[in-house]
Amino acid sequence: MKPRRQPVKRAAPRRAPAPAPRRIAARAHAKVNLDLRVLGTRADGYHELRTVFQTIDLHDMLTAQEKPGPFVLKCRTPGVPLDDRNLVWRAGAALWKALGRAGDPADTLVTIEKAIPMQAGLGGGSADAAAALQVLARLWGGAPLSLLREVASGVGSDTPFFLSGGTALGLGRGEEIYPLVDLPRHWVLLVRPPFGVSTAEAYSWYDDDRAAGVREPRGELQILPVPWPSRAAQMVNDLEPPVMRRHPEIGTIKAALREAGAVAAAMSGSGSAIFGLFRTRPGAVRAMRPLAKLAGSAVLSRTLSRAEYEARARPILRRV
Ligand code: C5P
Repeated sequence: MKPRRQPVKRAAPRRAPAPAPRRIAARAHAKVNLDLRVLGTRADGYHELRTVFQTIDLHDMLTAQEKPGPFVLKCRTPGVPLDDRNLVWRAGAALWKALGRAGDPADTLVTIEKAIPMQAGLGGGSADAAAALQVLARLWGGAPLSLLREVASGVGSDTPFFLSGGTALGLGRGEEIYPLVDLPRHWVLLVRPPFGVSTAEAYSWYDDDRAAGVREPRGELQILPVPWPSRAAQMVNDLEPPVMRRHPEIGTIKAALREAGAVAAAMSGSGSAIFGLFRTRPGAVRAMRPLAKLAGSAVLSRTLSRAEYEARARPILRRV
């Protein structure tokens, strides 16, 4: 007799586990301006610039993840707008459109963890926007760098710089970027007075002073040890005199940084932060105490070369 085959018990079909939602994170590094010259006013109301940007290791953290529903921005720091006043929001909306997607951006949550002080001239908003472009491009299926550059320059004048970082010359509104030989590593002491300055305000003070015929003595040239064309390396910021005229504390902090051993010191961008460059870490650490006493706080950072920036600012994929 043939043995009867036992009916085979079939296991219930195993479902493949749903893929964990993807989360992409990237550091958004701050910048200082090693030199900033206003060359004139433009028909579009902006100012024609020649500036030298330098990335530093102080950074915010940007994370983008899939989340069904409308596009949402989160940030725990008080005072950060979570709507289209935030450059990250504008970067997201502009990229969504540039990728040919219909309607408003959706199914995405972006979280910003702030460490870069705001209204300080350290490029925090622009850095966040550039990092948002990188993480959102990854999350939304990729985008060529040329497209990111185009979108970035529509979001803010400083935003394109943060797509490459290091030391770079910025022309036009500051959005036309030409890489320079890296500044040798310096330690950077950042001092942010207890008030901020908006970029638009700083430029309008510059215009007001010129219209009123104010002639500021040109600041002392502080030549940096670099192989660039010499005029780009003098640590002059044309926005510094009009901002300092309204906030004399900036002059006091700058002088204190030089006194404390900085090889050079200047206001960054449109202020209000002032930074000092130091050749050694111990030198910068020694200067922290007198500066913190004078201004309330001082943050130690260091310059990042283009190669360091590329490695550190690269988006990282994380499974939630
Ligand atoms: O480009 P962004 O939005 O960062 O500029 C903010 C403001 O700073 C502009 O509205 C303008 O008033 C001023 N600005 C300028 N010239 C530049 C860059 C900025 O007048 N090159």
